[in-house]
Amino acid sequence: MNSSTVLDVAHSEASSTVISASSQQRIAIIGMGAMGRRVVSSLRAGPFNGLAIAGLDPYADAQALKAGLGVDLFANLDDLMAWKPTVVVECAGHAAVEGVVAQCLERGVDAIVASVGALSSDELRTRLHDAQEVGGSELTVVSGAIGGLDALSAARGSGIESVKYIGRKPPRAWSGTPADGEFDLDAIDKPTVIFEGTAAESARQYPKNANVTAAVAIAGIGFEKTHVTMMADPTVNKNVHEVEAKGPFGQLNIRLENNPLPDNPKTSWLAALSIEDAILRRLQHVI
Ligand SMILES: NC(=O)c1ccc[n+]([C@@H]2O[C@H](COP(=O)([O-])OP(=O)(O)OC[C@H]3O[C@@H](n4cnc5c(N)ncnc54)[C@H](O)[C@@H]3O)[C@@H](O)[C@H]2O)c1
Repeated sequence: MNSSTVLDVAHSEASSTVISASSQQRIAIIGMGAMGRRVVSSLRAGPFNGLAIAGLDPYADAQALKAGLGVDLFANLDDLMAWKPTVVVECAGHAAVEGVVAQCLERGVDAIVASVGALSSDELRTRLHDAQEVGGSELTVVSGAIGGLDALSAARGSGIESVKYIGRKPPRAWSGTPADGEFDLDAIDKPTVIFEGTAAESARQYPKNANVTAAVAIAGIGFEKTHVTMMADPTVNKNVHEVEAKGPFGQLNIRLENNPLPDNPKTSWLAALSIEDAILRRLQHVI
């Protein structure tokens, strides 16, 4: 796993440069939902004219995607493999990391993964590691809806004493999670803790909210040592992520207030931007 790609290196100079299309790169987006479509639109609007892009999504409308985004859509992995992608970009959910992504890595195709929360499973991390060995391929894990993870990762060199993550969302944003039922979400009128525990426990109980905590755990001190608090907070109208880390290096505080993607209020726009950033770095050979 390419842990350096969790880093959040600024690339503003590189992204403002007009680049010739990298004809060797053939990009396949796994999952053509809100994030996948956003990523394709941004790539189409970017400096890489003629970039080969395809999609894999058995549930999406092939004709609509071809007409709207100019993307060939495949419904199964064998057909996508015949298209010969050089990199697959997962925007589909945890199950796709276990299935499609692992198979692509085994078959020698690099992968960029948005559903970082899937990596809270020790078994899956081992499987993906082995798949990279077998295929001679590389997995890139993006920072997604959080940032500043380069500093957290660097701080490990001094030994980190503690990492605390606090996530706040408006109460209704927790609908469809275990908090929905345990709490009367509509009646919450002050910041309320709905979960407190390790990143490992939070990934088990709140798998759909595990992407950020997983990215923090991977960059920092792991799933068992990272402390997670999740709050239903009527005083916020965005998804707010805070990370506090302490150690001999000093203290690190990160706070992000994320706007949602217009097409999916549960997905932060920054998460799509993070995927785009990872693709651009690959195309521009910028680290
Ligand atoms: N790292 C982060 O911070 C972060 C933040 C938000 C979302 N995410 C991840 O990104 C994923 C995509 O987000 P979204 O807003 O586009 O979700 P979405 O629900 O709008 O779209 C998901 C798409 O994936 C497709 N899909 C499902 N299973 C598939 C499979 N096995 N193979 C191919 N396609 C499949 C669905 O048909 C759908 O079109 C989320 O599931 C989440 O895990 C990560």
